[in-house]
Amino acid sequence: MDILKIQGPVQLNGEITVSGSKNASLPIMAATLLAPGVSVIKNVPDLSDIRVLCELMISVGAKINKPAKGVYEIDATNIDNPFGDYEIVRKMRASICILGPLLARCGKVEVSMPGGCSIGDRPVDIHIRGLKELGAIIDIRSGNIAASAGDGLKGKDIFLGGPFGSTVLGTDNIMMAATLAKGTTVIESAACEPEVSDLANCLNAMGAKISGIGSPRLVIEGVKALRPVEYSVLPDRIEAGTFMIAAAITKGKLKIKNCQCDYLMAAIDALHNIGVKVEHCGDDIIVSSNGKFKPVFLTTQPYPGFPTDLQAQFMALLALADGNSVITEKIFPDRFMHVAELNRMAANLRKEGPSVIIAGVDKLMAAPVMASDLRASAALVLAAMAAEGETIINRVYHIDRGYEKIEEKLNACGANIVRCQV
Ligand code: EPZ
Repeated sequence: MDILKIQGPVQLNGEITVSGSKNASLPIMAATLLAPGVSVIKNVPDLSDIRVLCELMISVGAKINKPAKGVYEIDATNIDNPFGDYEIVRKMRASICILGPLLARCGKVEVSMPGGCSIGDRPVDIHIRGLKELGAIIDIRSGNIAASAGDGLKGKDIFLGGPFGSTVLGTDNIMMAATLAKGTTVIESAACEPEVSDLANCLNAMGAKISGIGSPRLVIEGVKALRPVEYSVLPDRIEAGTFMIAAAITKGKLKIKNCQCDYLMAAIDALHNIGVKVEHCGDDIIVSSNGKFKPVFLTTQPYPGFPTDLQAQFMALLALADGNSVITEKIFPDRFMHVAELNRMAANLRKEGPSVIIAGVDKLMAAPVMASDLRASAALVLAAMAAEGETIINRVYHIDRGYEKIEEKLNACGANIVRCQV
């Protein structure tokens, strides 16, 4: 088991490059199962979640080769075992993204229900509802979703909204399944996240006919077959946002390279309101701060609203604001595992239902803390770089799920982070 030892306070200065998006890579790699032949997916980050998906895709019959850093050659010619085993699926909830492509390609699929995780219940009822609308026959048996396309999936007008708004992977699954359905499918209340648009663009490069990309109304005209693709994944906006906050919380100045600013408008707006300086230069962002932070009210929402995946990281920053802030979590109301850990570092946070009241303090203090989910873990790294003393972060595998070599990237800009095995 790895731990991180982080000395603080430090000031980050210099340049940091964003890797490819985890949340685009996962569905795009799964989408290659739709087409017999060899697809090449590039700019894929080196993360444990990617390795789990590769294990799952190989178990269903794909052959995967990694000829260079970030490049995955996926041969989906023989997909002869459309079964997503619990022992693999339980390692990563996003494994559910093989459901739609396997159902469309093979006419049947059995995938273990993903189960919950530390950010709360992770239901898949909307995925199931959407596939049923396309004509799938679905049984839930011994913890698995067993789906059959019967005499073939048929296009339909589908409302895919849920109690918390749109669903990212739900939209991905229904969109992928609809590409090979007979007729046209309309997905109303589709997720508009850039990662969903990246998947749609990749599917169109495979011969799909998807329009309305980036809007809450996707129109998918079914085609007979898709072809293999060569596609490069977009940069990770959540990693970019995490590094922006790293610059601010350490009162430093970072040039964050290769991040598409227009996908980060809500985060940039929040940083402006807090008093952090954000300058755009092409595909790079320069973030700097004098360490004076104004309190703000933030509420997480589906894209283009403030992203839930940056909620914990912003909480670490607002823990040092001059006054009281409030963060309300509207996507995953239980996504507050980081609150107790930040309070161990002398933050003053109080959970009130789906909100946390953040009473700003002058400084954070180092402490041994526990990582829980990958974004909460990133928040602890940010807090530890600003805190006085040596912070020990346990269960670092959570961070490795979503951040490629985080300590190498941060140490290159002045952090003092050592990974140790215990
Ligand atoms: C994706 O998860 C991301 N993961 C998450 O990032 C991200 O937090 C989330 O979207 C929201 O933006 C990947 O893309 C791999 P949802 P997803 O379905 O698709 C409810 C990270 O840190 N819901 O959009 O699983 C659900 O409970 C991860 O990188 C239903 O009720 O999330 C939640 O409240 C964490 N029924 C809301 O919708 C369903 O069938 C949004 O969830 C599906 C979802």
